[in-house]
Amino acid sequence: MMTDPSFEHCQPTIHVFPTATDAADAVALHILEKVKDHPKAVLGLATGQTPRRVYARLIEAVHNGAVSFDQATTFNLDEYCGLPATHPDSFAAFMRRELFDQSDFADSRVNLIDGSATDNQAEARRYAQCLQTSGGIDLQLLGLGTNGHIGFNEPGSDAGSRVRVVDLTEDTLEANRPTLLQLDAVPGKAITMGIADILDARKIIMLATGEAKAEAVCRSLEGPESADCPGSYLLRHRNVHWYLDADAASLLADRG
Ligand code: GLP
Repeated sequence: MMTDPSFEHCQPTIHVFPTATDAADAVALHILEKVKDHPKAVLGLATGQTPRRVYARLIEAVHNGAVSFDQATTFNLDEYCGLPATHPDSFAAFMRRELFDQSDFADSRVNLIDGSATDNQAEARRYAQCLQTSGGIDLQLLGLGTNGHIGFNEPGSDAGSRVRVVDLTEDTLEANRPTLLQLDAVPGKAITMGIADILDARKIIMLATGEAKAEAVCRSLEGPESADCPGSYLLRHRNVHWYLDADAASLLADRG
């Protein structure tokens, strides 16, 4: 399904590295430079296996005294519905383990979706309001689902979508199952920032590594823009930097 074929697409910057480690290290450097120049930056953060190395490098930089995040604000992309922040499989717990507990982000400036909210729609509205009040995201870190999702904007998501409750696809339930620490199955619903929220970010960094991402990377970068591959909506943005390893870039005609 094509969306707005008249939209003028922009040229993303594509960086291809030999290994996933190299790509993650380069993303960490990019984030560090941003925060050194703009200590009060608003960062959009992602979960998943892919950014773990990035977060490890950010922690290292804090410990080395190379940077401080104490003035930065963060917004996470998404959260499973039904999981409190104390549940090890929640994205809130992931962020604490992988980044926040070992660095110097100020609790008061860390924004997370409450997966345990009794009213998910109200929680989505609350988060959308927080995002708006923050003045917008300066740098959004993204990963890519094997089905092309960004955040939890699954195939079929609209370009104008905002923070909302979504049903996860079978592909995503399957892809994320091996990462669970305690649950047997991935929760079927989540709250995610929308495509329009992501595209509002002033800069976007996409990190995708591994052969499993190659097709989604190719569909996102080579187009056509399509709701079938939400990553292709990034073609609309004027300041997107793709960081790939050779495996993820392997299907691209022009490897950057
Ligand atoms: C998850 C998250 C996305 C993430 C993607 C890829 O479900 N909702 O934000 O980018 O899937 O995850 P991974 O890095 O583990 O491949």
